[in-house]
Amino acid sequence: MKANWTRREFVQRVGTAAGVLALGGTFAEFLAACGGSATTSGSKLEIFSWWTAGGEADGLAEMFKIYKAKYPSVAIQNAAVAGGAGSNAKAVLATRMQGGKPPDSFQVHAGQELVSTWVKASKMEPITAIWASEGWDAVIPKDLKTIVSSGTDVWSVPVNVHRGNSLWVSAKAASAVSATTTNNLDNFLSALGTAKAAGMQAPLALGSKGNWQVTMLFENNLVAVGGADFYRGLFTGKSSWTDNNIKTALNYISRMLNYVNSDHATIDWDQAAGRVQAGTSVATIMGDWAKGYFTANNWKPDTDFTGIPSPGTTGTYMIVCDTFGVPKGAPDHDNAVNWVKVCGSKDGQAAFNPKKGSIPARTDVPASLFDSIAQRFMGEFKNASLTPSIAHGSAAPEAFASGLNDEMGQFVQQKNVNASATNIAKLAAQFLQ
Ligand code: GAL
Repeated sequence: MKANWTRREFVQRVGTAAGVLALGGTFAEFLAACGGSATTSGSKLEIFSWWTAGGEADGLAEMFKIYKAKYPSVAIQNAAVAGGAGSNAKAVLATRMQGGKPPDSFQVHAGQELVSTWVKASKMEPITAIWASEGWDAVIPKDLKTIVSSGTDVWSVPVNVHRGNSLWVSAKAASAVSATTTNNLDNFLSALGTAKAAGMQAPLALGSKGNWQVTMLFENNLVAVGGADFYRGLFTGKSSWTDNNIKTALNYISRMLNYVNSDHATIDWDQAAGRVQAGTSVATIMGDWAKGYFTANNWKPDTDFTGIPSPGTTGTYMIVCDTFGVPKGAPDHDNAVNWVKVCGSKDGQAAFNPKKGSIPARTDVPASLFDSIAQRFMGEFKNASLTPSIAHGSAAPEAFASGLNDEMGQFVQQKNVNASATNIAKLAAQFLQ
């Protein structure tokens, strides 16, 4: 089994190597120059995230409940900013951090988004001592620790592992878009074609507001057409961004677009999931936070819907890992430290993840707490070839990820495979070298 090797590859890319990939200079330097400020503690705790949709907001509320029970005198301020993948929140956070007004703790993806942005800019406090005193080495896999570490320090604690390469299918569609018809991209497209021929206008639900959802289609398709080694190689220099797989992956997106709702640019991922639930679409490709959405809206896993690897990606796991750390100058420093402890705790992760749709970062949270789809994902995660997500901050510096999102926004309008492939190669040359 290649699992050990591939995990090492994964870690090398998003972890220790993360610091060498500069954000692009000036922004990081500017932040570094701002420096930290003295820490104090009050009776409040401000938590910043983008968890406002069904499922994700419920998961967050569960962790708030645990915090409240432990620290009843602390008033929690939920500073969540709506917009999937932090499409609005990240800009708000950057403004606050630059202005010296950090929240007490904020959601940040493991890997580049943490290390080559906030750590590089000297805006985080190390949590190395907390990690040790909480005994997390014994319960959080080393691979996950590595991608929230740089130098000799640890900078945040993973609260979950999401799977970015998932396909969600309504049970009503089970015969048309079944697991066997979705095991590769061509079969999937022909299943969508069958559904459309039977009268369904938009069998594949897409919400592309903010464009990151199309970046997800792109990264999943890259794994499907090139394999996990090819995909990881794009970030280590072993694979080329001018490889024909780039065009093939784009071409598959273009073909998928024949089957999506025409208003996709105006809706987000949760509204797209809502279309599946409403029955106007039969499937959507989205991270397993979509499972959180469905269960929050009273759909039963493996009864009303199911979840499987996105077409052509069986055996791989597109890692999306949410973490929390403590920024320098957190106004309620000690409360923030206690928050991070809840995030890394067994109770916290046991309460959070079943609602969130993710699997826990800790290995000691009982699988029996989870639905059957999550249990399957937990099993697959153990042996899967891990690939870090671009769309969700792990694989590449922010400048590349946001440039790619913009390009995907162009692509869904123009569907010009050659032009987008050229522009993507330019972005890679600029930001990944
Ligand atoms: C991701 C995040 C997930 C989920 C999703 C949609 O970036 O890691 O936890 O919130 O965005 O908002």
